[in-house]
Amino acid sequence: MREFIYFSGKARTSGNFSDNLMEAGRMDIACHVLINTFFLSHQLRNNVKLHMVFYGMPDPPKHLELFPSKKLREEDSKMDISKKDVAGLIKKMLYKYKPGMKNEVSPGYWIEKKSLFAVIDELKSEGKVVYVLDEKGEDIRDIKISEDCVFLLGDHDGLPAKELKRLKKICVPVSIGNKTYFASQVVSIVNNELDRRGI
Ligand SMILES: C[S@@+](CC[C@H](N)C(=O)[O-])C[C@H]1O[C@@H](n2cnc3c(N)ncnc32)[C@H](O)[C@@H]1O
Repeated sequence: MREFIYFSGKARTSGNFSDNLMEAGRMDIACHVLINTFFLSHQLRNNVKLHMVFYGMPDPPKHLELFPSKKLREEDSKMDISKKDVAGLIKKMLYKYKPGMKNEVSPGYWIEKKSLFAVIDELKSEGKVVYVLDEKGEDIRDIKISEDCVFLLGDHDGLPAKELKRLKKICVPVSIGNKTYFASQVVSIVNNELDRRGI
């Protein structure tokens, strides 16, 4: 089982964002990340979970958790994930936020108010190993990767410098090379590395 955490400092934290996704705190990047997390040619991955942590206005932070397994999709076709309307799915999840609880919007989809560090702490307390994607980290090709791995990455602005310093102490810093890739490309590269290792 693999998991990704996508952190965005500006992605909107309410469902009332406009169709111009670039103006919604670069929700377009969140959509690309989601697509590259779950979609393969003609099939969906069902061994991967995505956490999206948004710190944009008007009500940060928001933690969206997505685990659209095949079985769950069969049980509730209303939340079926389609490449054509990924923004609609994120919007729907944000609209279904309920203060004071982790709301299961539909089987396999949850939303709650939770900070990035609280999400990481929880995953670590479940025995997962959290890797922070950072160009200065150790080469992914040279490290052992846990079967219960979680990969954290930032948006177009990257992970905030102050937080990154702390993150590098509590997570394993990992690099995928010396070029700076789009967040969505990073997800594809890591997915491929894990596929090749049979994780
Ligand atoms: C578009 S990049 C962010 C660029 C931003 N200007 C910066 O300097 O952090 C988005 C995220 O992808 C990850 N990333 C991009 N290239 C990477 C690389 N070569 N190795 C590891 N992570 C990378 C980082 O987590 C980064 O926050």
